[in-house]
Amino acid sequence: MSEKETLLDLLLASPQEFVSGEEISRRLSVSRTAVWKQINKLREAGYEFEAVPNKGYRIVNKPERIDTLTLLKTLKTNIAGKKLKVLETTVSTQEEAKALAEAGAPEGTLVVAEEQTGGKGRLGRKWFSPKGKGIWMSLVLRPKQPLHYMPQLTLLTGVAVCRAVRRTTGVMAGLKWPNDLLVDGRKICGILLESAAEDEYVRYCIAGIGISANLDPDDYPDELKSVATSLKIEAGHPVDRVQLIAAAMEEFETLYRLYQQEGFAPIASLWEALSVTLGKRVTVGAASGPVTGLALKLDPHGALVILTEDGRELPVFSGDVELRR
Ligand code: BTN
Repeated sequence: MSEKETLLDLLLASPQEFVSGEEISRRLSVSRTAVWKQINKLREAGYEFEAVPNKGYRIVNKPERIDTLTLLKTLKTNIAGKKLKVLETTVSTQEEAKALAEAGAPEGTLVVAEEQTGGKGRLGRKWFSPKGKGIWMSLVLRPKQPLHYMPQLTLLTGVAVCRAVRRTTGVMAGLKWPNDLLVDGRKICGILLESAAEDEYVRYCIAGIGISANLDPDDYPDELKSVATSLKIEAGHPVDRVQLIAAAMEEFETLYRLYQQEGFAPIASLWEALSVTLGKRVTVGAASGPVTGLALKLDPHGALVILTEDGRELPVFSGDVELRR
């Protein structure tokens, strides 16, 4: 652990209490001047301290930004997020993660940005990614699998994020096939999986996750106002983005391990339990044209099985789902 990390550990362990400069310099085995320098560095990074002569230092505020150090300390994973790049701004974390993957970045490498100027959604759409308001992140994966298994990983990612959202914020989001998180019919998160393959085998894949965490109603452009919402709007207070990223990585790692050991069946059950699509009449804009019917279940590949009006069970592999009344 670096001096800065040990210092933060010490102060965050008892945020109400003062820790004396003497105690800190003893624990860090550095001089009082070195302690003071580290405190100043943390101040520059957005931390706020109360410093009282003869009492010491007390942490009073952590930065609103997604702070690399705090995130690394909060992560309870072995690989997911442990190699971390936090950017102030980027065109798209997908592109950053792809470049890292091409350069050999290991599985679990995570890129997070405060802002994306060219955030990408599914089907060539744009993804609205304003500064400091959301969680815009991309995770590098290296599954040893043929390309046609990737839709299963999309669903797995959705389950992981949905569980993390529920656990850390109490907002009871549900999953809309294939990969949106909704609250009362409004979108709160989107997932975009992009893969690079060779001979039909995955070289790497990038799981892009966009969570509208702390957007206010006025932040949204008009065309999104009626279809999107944020965790802050739904919970009634801002959410801690670092805690949510850490929880999402933790859930992801647990499910990814389960998937590698037991295959897709347990993931499909978890997805079905969190789904807001199943049991509803839907129209899916499939490649062969729109299909309308009752959303029944996931098939073993992760396709959505639709019971059509003429009684056939039709698996749909990709497309947009419209929930009907
Ligand atoms: C969708 O619902 O259309 C998918 C949206 C995915 C958005 C995320 S934000 C982080 C990552 N970077 C991107 O440019 N897109 C994904």
